[in-house]
Amino acid sequence: MQEPRQEDSKVEVTGFEAQYYDTLMNLITLGWYPAFIRRAIADLELREGERILDLGAGTGRNALLMREHIGSAGEVLGLEIGEEMQAQFRRKTAGYPNLRLEEHRIDEPLPQEYAGRFDRVFISFVLQGFVQEKRNAIIANAARALRPGGTFAVLDYNNFDVDRAPAWVRFAIRRVECPLAEDFIRRDTREMLARHGFGDFRQTEYLKGHIRLLQGKNGGE
Ligand SMILES: C[S@@+](CC[C@H](N)C(=O)[O-])C[C@H]1O[C@@H](n2cnc3c(N)ncnc32)[C@H](O)[C@@H]1O
Repeated sequence: MQEPRQEDSKVEVTGFEAQYYDTLMNLITLGWYPAFIRRAIADLELREGERILDLGAGTGRNALLMREHIGSAGEVLGLEIGEEMQAQFRRKTAGYPNLRLEEHRIDEPLPQEYAGRFDRVFISFVLQGFVQEKRNAIIANAARALRPGGTFAVLDYNNFDVDRAPAWVRFAIRRVECPLAEDFIRRDTREMLARHGFGDFRQTEYLKGHIRLLQGKNGGE
């Protein structure tokens, strides 16, 4: 397989797709997505008062779900570059001062004041959309932003043999997603995280194991 390039990525969602992102996700998954994302966020086992950094935060749907677990004492800081996504995040979370958004590229060094500030870093359907060098930069950002023992949670495709996956999975990966998705699936995400000092992994699987929530502790074994 030819090495995919960042220009092939669809991770920077813009225009119509960005404006109707949540509705489109619900539709293309035939109504499966809302219950799935609620379940996956419950599986983070967030605690009241926790501080979460959400990389590539999207529309604010995830921040609102996380708020149900962390309450008003906790905090979600979303990082996002998409204009339409930022507007939706700000609109959806307007009533909640503890759900905030900043415009930052997650694949470039993050502000020094983030270092060690967060209990959790969450990244949902974003890491796959980068070339490996940028994925490593994002993981390094997560490690720096977490307190020792804090958790990095990656919700994304699992690692599996795409050639042997069911036809509808192959169609989604090879026809709907960009080539970086298959590149991501072929690599070992756990090992990727371990190289940045994450350990004590916990894995929860969805959609017959094709999607996974992988959680690793900063400085874990
Ligand atoms: C597939 S969407 C996922 C959104 C959200 N995490 C979710 O699960 O609904 C990818 C998101 O990452 C954002 N994004 C892409 N590249 C980014 C970058 N370099 N820095 C920050 N955000 C980025 C996009 O604007 C988009 O909102």
